[in-house]
Amino acid sequence: MTAPFDVGAEPIAGTEIHSYYRDRPASELSPLLRSGAGFTMFWHAVGFEGEMPFAAFADRLPADMRQVSPKRITEYLAGRYCAERALAAAGAEAGCWLPRGSDRLPIWPPGWTGSISHADGIAAAAVVARAPGTALGLDVEHWINADQAGQICRLIASQAELELLVALPPERALTLLFSAKEALFKALYPSTRRFMEFSAARLVDANDKELSLQLSEHWSPDWMRGTVVPVRFLLQEAYVSAAALARQTPVAL
Ligand SMILES: CC(C)(COP(=O)(O)OP(=O)(O)OC[C@H]1O[C@@H](n2cnc3c(N)ncnc32)[C@H](O)[C@@H]1OP(=O)(O)O)[C@@H](O)C(=O)NCCC(=O)NCCS
Repeated sequence: MTAPFDVGAEPIAGTEIHSYYRDRPASELSPLLRSGAGFTMFWHAVGFEGEMPFAAFADRLPADMRQVSPKRITEYLAGRYCAERALAAAGAEAGCWLPRGSDRLPIWPPGWTGSISHADGIAAAAVVARAPGTALGLDVEHWINADQAGQICRLIASQAELELLVALPPERALTLLFSAKEALFKALYPSTRRFMEFSAARLVDANDKELSLQLSEHWSPDWMRGTVVPVRFLLQEAYVSAAALARQTPVAL
């Protein structure tokens, strides 16, 4: 596996495993997660490589995660590590290792909410102070290739949506839209608790930093059809990241 970043080369002490993780520079996700519009964001990202880069945290795994694959253990621990670091940066309780609630949702400490995402070799978490009617979702995706794009295109995007992203190669446009919709879904799911198809939101505007996704269905009484959610994004060499910052703005259509 080639990591999409510059990792250190120090093996985990006391093991033969050539695995390592490295915190990402503070500047990396700043354009994505800059504060504003009433949100003060805190985040942490990490790159990792090898069989068990987070072995030092393995004793914190929930019992039912101990038998899963090394890859799944790694992504789980990487996400929890990032959440702990992001909460510390926010000034929330120190050393907060998030428990796992129903539907895989992390249980954030009182007063805070956030989102975790991981992909091969990278994980990130973002947190904001909890506020009524606001929600945050984060997603990180490696670029999909043209073959993969061909297979999933119809599920994810309409022609009209892709036309708003013509400045990008088609598979990059699709990866971006996929990531933005996943970020939106992750923001709203803790309140809606409903699975939604990718057609349940549509891209209505785009610039070089932000997409506007409009809910094309009623997701819940709080998240009504017509609500527009801004999703900031960051295009990097190996992956795309997206952060949805949703506010309840019911619109009657
Ligand atoms: C839920 C879903 C978005 C997560 O996908 P994934 O590839 O595992 O995504 P990420 O790595 O970005 O995020 C995983 C983390 O998000 C959190 N998470 C899991 N399910 C979640 C959910 N339903 N809502 C919010 N966060 C969730 C967890 O912390 C999880 O990591 P962990 O299990 O290691 O703790 C995906 O499985 C899914 O169901 N997508 C289809 C629904 C959709 O996106 N519809 C689009 C509507 S427009």
